[in-house]
Amino acid sequence: MSITIDKDPDTTALPERIRRFPFPFTGDQYRYSANVEPAHKTVPTEAGAWGARLIDIDEFYHQELADRDEILTRDPSRMQVLPHMRPAVWDALTTVLSSTAEDYPDTMSFHREGNACRWQNTLQGLDIEFTVGDDDSLPGGPLRFLGTQIQDDIVLLDIRDNTMWLDAGLVTFAADWSFSFDVGMNFLEIHGPVPRVKEEKIVSRAEQFLLRLQPGEQFRRTNWTMTIGQRLDTSTETYPEWGPDRGTIAADPDMPDKLHLRVEVQHLIRLPHTGVLMFLIRSYLLPLSDIAKVPAWREKFGHVLAELPEDMAEYKGIIRYRKTASDWLLAS
Ligand code: HEM
Repeated sequence: MSITIDKDPDTTALPERIRRFPFPFTGDQYRYSANVEPAHKTVPTEAGAWGARLIDIDEFYHQELADRDEILTRDPSRMQVLPHMRPAVWDALTTVLSSTAEDYPDTMSFHREGNACRWQNTLQGLDIEFTVGDDDSLPGGPLRFLGTQIQDDIVLLDIRDNTMWLDAGLVTFAADWSFSFDVGMNFLEIHGPVPRVKEEKIVSRAEQFLLRLQPGEQFRRTNWTMTIGQRLDTSTETYPEWGPDRGTIAADPDMPDKLHLRVEVQHLIRLPHTGVLMFLIRSYLLPLSDIAKVPAWREKFGHVLAELPEDMAEYKGIIRYRKTASDWLLAS
């Protein structure tokens, strides 16, 4: 495959939020597929690049962590751990902290001797010691603590009976689904509402792939939808706060600034000690007005929106405004 990097001086002058955005479209059409690839690989885009690191820390770090804290205080059901998953939570915490320290040596460090650990995060002025297995050694317990250190939502799936079970997690930024409703479901049940994927065997193929992952292996995929407003919490629980905007955005003169392409970079990691599957969801929002600053993105996304089959547009909740958005993008 040959990759052309756009050297246009206008795009190199773009702000970071655009240059680092994981723009997901390679052509003018989008369909679901079992789009899983190895993690840690830099992906060049027409505006910059993304994907070198497992955990991505950006300019929205403090704001998103403050949002998460506020959501969890209001609604503790966004974090749940079934009792048999407690060891997996520690596995997730130590895996993520050590990887983040390796990727950000200037601001983070992680040291472990036996079960005794020390984590430093200078972005938060934090220097903390804790003991693996002792839930009281970290504020709020290990999963809650991990949710204060990374922007990603965290889902842990137990592997048994030849499938995966969503048995723990901390999800404050769900894109139109409910974490607490899904707790205890298996992989197929979780994907029940998604059109096409059952008939096209996408979910069963992905499931077989994930079941074969070896401890320590790290893969990723992207997914996308659209969100109105700079809002990450579009969970079923808060639907009354954001759902009605879907009916009014097409007529809103501020649509280009309010309507966002929402991309999830999802990591799939078989944890090294417990063999549990960790699913990390990092959500990025970019308004149409920013997409339009990159001519290739404006065009591709405009065509994808126009061409997307009705059932997929309906499922994504974009059916009432996708034509207006597409027309705006393509009218340059
Ligand atoms: C193992 C970790 C995974 C978990 C926990 C997970 C969870 C979810 C959830 C909760 C939804 C929303 C369903 C709803 O509307 O209620 C979803 C959507 C979806 N998932 Fe997964 N998923 C995982 C992995 C994958 C993989 C590996 C694929 C590969 C094909 C996949 C494909 C999809 C697709 C195509 C959608 C629809 C997205 C959209 O159109 O917005 N998922 N997933």
